[in-house]
Amino acid sequence: MHVFICQNCGHIEFSSAPHRCPVCGFQKNQFKQNDNVFEESAASSPEGGVKHVPVVKVVADCKLIPEENCIDILVRVGETLHPMEDKHFITFLDLYVDDKYVSRLLLSPDMYPGAVFHLKTPGSKVAVVEQCNLHGHWINEASL
Ligand SMILES: [Fe+2]
Repeated sequence: MHVFICQNCGHIEFSSAPHRCPVCGFQKNQFKQNDNVFEESAASSPEGGVKHVPVVKVVADCKLIPEENCIDILVRVGETLHPMEDKHFITFLDLYVDDKYVSRLLLSPDMYPGAVFHLKTPGSKVAVVEQCNLHGHWINEASL
């Protein structure tokens, strides 16, 4: 899988770089290809996987929007909760359906590293990319 990273906001696109970054609007030439970005994060923090790999859970019955076919995507980082401190925190969670970007949640040290996405678009799998300000990008997937 080809991986293209926005040098301005850290957003990742798969397969090809977009005309403009869907998160920050930067142009295609601001994307840098690095197909090994997730392996590099794992290699730079070998014991860090348990704190960085997003735990992604799909819940079919949404309690907030029960009148529609809303699917809840629950995310936490990670199996052992990642710290959220001024010097070390998770900066965002990006959600993808079938490798296509859907939404970003920005995080700050005032929040826990978790989210619920209320998904409308159907698909066969979701992926979540998180960025740690010190330890880079990490990804995990779940079937829909
Ligand atoms: Fe970290």
